[in-house]
Amino acid sequence: MKNVLLTGCSRGVGLVITKVLVSKGYTVYGISRNLSNEYKNLMNSFPKKIKFKSFDLSNVNDINKEVFKNYIPNSTKLHAYINNAAIAYDDIITNLNVDRLENMFKVNVFSPLNIVKYAIRNMIFNRNSGHIIHLSSISVHTGYKGLAMYAASKGALEAFSKNTAREWGERGIKSNCIVAGFMETDMSSTLGDDMKNRIFKRTSLKKPTDLNSVANTIEFIISGNAKSITGQNIHVDSGTI
Ligand SMILES: NC(=O)c1ccc[n+]([C@@H]2O[C@H](COP(=O)([O-])OP(=O)(O)OC[C@H]3O[C@@H](n4cnc5c(N)ncnc54)[C@H](OP(=O)(O)O)[C@@H]3O)[C@@H](O)[C@H]2O)c1
Repeated sequence: MKNVLLTGCSRGVGLVITKVLVSKGYTVYGISRNLSNEYKNLMNSFPKKIKFKSFDLSNVNDINKEVFKNYIPNSTKLHAYINNAAIAYDDIITNLNVDRLENMFKVNVFSPLNIVKYAIRNMIFNRNSGHIIHLSSISVHTGYKGLAMYAASKGALEAFSKNTAREWGERGIKSNCIVAGFMETDMSSTLGDDMKNRIFKRTSLKKPTDLNSVANTIEFIISGNAKSITGQNIHVDSGTI
């Protein structure tokens, strides 16, 4: 049985990742604050394959107890950790509010880094060459007005992932980032049409990024078909340039 810890499972990309993984036979241990109706329906359809824990990732110090001891102890052999949950604090830099910045970094960076710590311990305990995947953003590489603080949190993940790959590669543990382009989810729903059009103009395909494309790329990376891929940033972004 291949167990995957997935954060941000309740909606958006996380929901699509859950559907793809379960269709390929993985067991998904989902985490988000709220249990959405869509995720609940999936749980009803696949009662043994989809689990759920309500947890607020801003509680960085509770991760060992709540996520690992109470949900995924070492007796549950972890195949992959997919760091998908995130929040976007978007504003121009001159409006920066430290409390909001700190909260975003807790959810987007500090918690995922702390989860990687325990995920690697689980993989080593089980002598398992597992996978770590972080959802990054094209904003790290192109820059958008108003996204500097959000992009900084994703840039931190890219650096951490590259170094994780280097540090744990000898144990067979792989770490990669999926650099996603603009996708139509709740996260982007506050953007006006003008901003959306400006973003689409910078893509080669002139289209938003397809959520299934992101989910299927993740499944490929954690399948046995991508054994030599680690330390990479894999762009799934409609060809943003
Ligand atoms: N949408 C885009 O255009 C875009 C582009 C590039 C990259 N990305 C990245 O893709 C990933 C998925 O984004 P999305 O668009 O699917 O976002 P979304 O629709 O806003 O969903 C975010 C998910 O994270 C969970 N979450 C948020 N705060 C949390 C917290 N404090 N504790 C636990 N769970 C929390 C949410 O569930 P609850 O609210 O129930 O907790 C939800 O399941 C993110 O890493 C995002 O940065 C998105």
